[in-house]
Amino acid sequence: MDAGTGKAEGRETVRQSEPVNGARADRQGGVVREFLEFIEQAPDQSVRDVTGRILLRCRTLTSAEAGTVFILRLRDGTRWLEAMSVQNDVIETGAANFAIPVDERSIAGYVAATGRTLFIDDAYAIPDSWPFRFNSAFDLKSGFRTRSILCFAMRSYEQRTIGVVQLINRRGGDGRIYPFLAEHEEMIAPVNHLVGRAIERIDSLEQIAEQNRLLRVRNEELRIARERADALRAETERAFMATVELLGRAAERHDYDTGNHTQRVNEYSFRLARLAELPDEFCSEIRYLAALHDVGKMAVDKAILHKPARLTDEEYKEMQRHTVYGFEILSVHERMAMAAEIAHSHHEKWDGSGYPRGLVGEAIPIAARIVAIADVYDALRSDRPYKAGFDHARTVEIMTRGDSRIDPARHFDPRLLRLFAENQHVFDEVWTESLGRRTAMDPKERSDEADVEPAPVRSRG
Ligand SMILES: [Fe+2]
Repeated sequence: MDAGTGKAEGRETVRQSEPVNGARADRQGGVVREFLEFIEQAPDQSVRDVTGRILLRCRTLTSAEAGTVFILRLRDGTRWLEAMSVQNDVIETGAANFAIPVDERSIAGYVAATGRTLFIDDAYAIPDSWPFRFNSAFDLKSGFRTRSILCFAMRSYEQRTIGVVQLINRRGGDGRIYPFLAEHEEMIAPVNHLVGRAIERIDSLEQIAEQNRLLRVRNEELRIARERADALRAETERAFMATVELLGRAAERHDYDTGNHTQRVNEYSFRLARLAELPDEFCSEIRYLAALHDVGKMAVDKAILHKPARLTDEEYKEMQRHTVYGFEILSVHERMAMAAEIAHSHHEKWDGSGYPRGLVGEAIPIAARIVAIADVYDALRSDRPYKAGFDHARTVEIMTRGDSRIDPARHFDPRLLRLFAENQHVFDEVWTESLGRRTAMDPKERSDEADVEPAPVRSRG
């Protein structure tokens, strides 16, 4: 630069002409006090309010007829000067809603980039050797005529540039425009860091408040999304459970019209699982999956299922295969793992005399051992074409002491059987409740087929 540069109060200045000092700046102390007062008087004001007041004060002190305050912002890794306040005593100005990049091509950008203070006597006569240019677009549009400029950086306490103040056209008492004086900078420089620190603090608070607002909006969006996801999950779960129930009922219809047998088996199994102190998840799962224990019967010929006479050996084997068919149907989906286990093993017996695999003791899945007890209890209590259902006391007697077909010690898990015997009223309650529901819903329903049938007809599963 070929024009004058120098240092005043530790600040480097760039002047278009030699400095001209007016009256001595003996008002500095007063100015500092004034700035401190107005910053402290209104601690809750916004950055725009504070910058507006600062600009007005700077303009009053220097007799500038116009000015702009910019705040430095980082956007996507680029530094920008955002106009916060624009004032002009001569013409109407729009809102301060523009920004200019921090580089050495504009006057304010140069000040922000270098930290230097600029004294420009005539904006239209800036030396070619200077890197920045005056942008005359505003003057051309508005008819305003920019001439002298004083442009300086506002600094944080750590001397970091946080914004730029640009003062335009110092108007003298005679109405003419004069260059800004060295004393103007000397007056403003001491208060600069005070103002800068106040703005920095308010700006930080505003940015935190804005980030908090955005966070609240985001949290609300997340909450709504979560609610939607929960509702969808609940809906999917309801649909899944309805499908399971329909599948159980479809199997029931294919076999015999057995009313609420499968739903009761669900309920007995759930109660017994609870008595056995199995995990909550297990208990709620068996409560709707136990109903699928005979799903495999849908793959067995109805002629066999409904045959009124004794089954041939071949027919009997086919009947027993309902366990394997059920397993094959249900094991295609992991959500049905317990149902597949139950379907496969609910005819296994504790001593290994059951089917299809002849599993022994605890090798039989616990869910299947539970359903075995539930299934037999319900079968004994139910009416059959060939017998009336037993009452609760007789049913418990058969299950705990045995009869011609049932040998409790060989058939059932002894621990589960003991729990059944000790809490037998629970089973009677389920049965009685179900009767109430059936009467209300469908008085014609009848219950029959399960695991226990009198000779000579063989068990049909
Ligand atoms: Fe069965």
